[in-house]
Amino acid sequence: MDVLSVASEVYPLIKTGGLADVAGALPGALASQDVSMRTLVPGYPQVIGAIKKGRSVAQFADLFGGPAELIAARVGDLDLIVLDAKHLFDRAGGIYVDATGKDWEDNWQRFAALSWVAAELAKGLVAGYRPEIVHAHDWQAAMAAAYVAFGRDETTKVVVTIHNIAFQGAYPADIFPHLRLPPDAFAMSGVEYYGGVGFLKAGLQCAHAITTVSPTYAREIRTPAFGMGLEGLLNERSHDLYGILNGIDDGAWNPQSDPDLAANFAAANTRKREVNRVALADRFGLEEDGSPLFGIVSRLTWQKGIDIVAENVHWLVSLGARLAVLGSGDPDLEIAMEEAAARFPGRVGFIKGYDEGLSHLVQGGADVVLVPSRFEPCGLTQLYALRYGAIPLVSRVGGLADTIIDANEAAIEAGVATGVQFSPVDGPNLGEAISRTVSLYQRPDIWARMQRKGMKTDVSWTNSARKYAALYGALLNR
Ligand code: ADP
Ligand code: GLC
Repeated sequence: MDVLSVASEVYPLIKTGGLADVAGALPGALASQDVSMRTLVPGYPQVIGAIKKGRSVAQFADLFGGPAELIAARVGDLDLIVLDAKHLFDRAGGIYVDATGKDWEDNWQRFAALSWVAAELAKGLVAGYRPEIVHAHDWQAAMAAAYVAFGRDETTKVVVTIHNIAFQGAYPADIFPHLRLPPDAFAMSGVEYYGGVGFLKAGLQCAHAITTVSPTYAREIRTPAFGMGLEGLLNERSHDLYGILNGIDDGAWNPQSDPDLAANFAAANTRKREVNRVALADRFGLEEDGSPLFGIVSRLTWQKGIDIVAENVHWLVSLGARLAVLGSGDPDLEIAMEEAAARFPGRVGFIKGYDEGLSHLVQGGADVVLVPSRFEPCGLTQLYALRYGAIPLVSRVGGLADTIIDANEAAIEAGVATGVQFSPVDGPNLGEAISRTVSLYQRPDIWARMQRKGMKTDVSWTNSARKYAALYGALLNR
């Protein structure tokens, strides 16, 4: 079966978050399910630069304001179709925001173009290639569902995956005439959203199936507290809404062979983690005293609960623990982390920025990986933590609720605990969970058992790849 995956980022070429990891891993995971997946991505400089041998397979004289072409290329294990449109994607700065952190003003054109091209590919734009399914990720690709639906293409099936409903691509109505859609698409049954145009809304309306990245998030987004205005539509479409957990790329994330660790280790010899812990403390300027070392690898945003971490730094240090934070994001939260590190030298370390290699060392060296998110569609860092023998301390939401088993006394007794959870998400509850984690750390047998249990948990793509393949199959049989 031929599936075209459409994503605005894909690991290892370009990544701002978990979406890239997932888009990068899916094709490999699905290969064993007889799914042949190609990935359509924007031709950012990082993507164009990675192409060694490309083949031009289609040209457009005017694609949303300038010439463009499609380049087919194999990069590593990925079978890519790259949308090379210089006027849309060839620029310095972030992939969604400019150097000052502001959304690119033409994001609607950039991602309408990506989605429009996906629908054209499905219609047979390129000779010899006709995907039966378009799998569109997040708002940047979601409009592909509308282009298929209103492009009178009755054969292609479209799956839209919600990785984060907080980002919706909502724009004023005056962009509509430029979207290459027929007038009847500007309706509740199409792209219209509160009087404007909603890219994600359009996708959820028009897709044949909607998935999100954990079963709990699939339930949560049907409620006002998590649906961010789309809960009504998702309730109407609940029969077509599925929660399929993310897995991790267990080649890129394997503590036995990871080149970014100071020492490799397996579940049978977690004592070697000590070498990584020392290296990690060293990188973050922390004292090495054998006290529990908490690590964070995250976008620094409200979603990720970084403000309640800031509230708890003093408490964490007073319990004798240490904290290493790697991340960047909201300026206020970056400042809060800088202040915490300045206030507790040797106990709190902060490295601002994005560093893939260092993120692996945090997983391999920290005793605890902290993920206190207010909402979390799936979350990958807690899965990496499981695999790397770090104990995840997480809030009980979304994919965090689905992947971590809280170390309550019954779970400890039964030997099934893998981490610590808290709920509801607020500063005091996080503080209590930090205390509970430090107490567990003082029970080395239990701690070691949790580590081993976590490391043996199946966080691979195997189960979820089967679920995606089954969903594709069911859509084609409809
Ligand atoms: P989200 O996609 O919401 O940011 P996920 O947990 O799904 O959250 O994925 C985040 C991904 O980005 C993980 O692979 C994580 O390791 C990575 N990441 C986040 N911040 C950084 C950083 N500062 N440096 C390196 N990797 C990071
Ligand atoms: C989003 C979510 C995160 C999820 C990732 C990949 O960025 O915030 O929870 O793991 O997408 O699906």
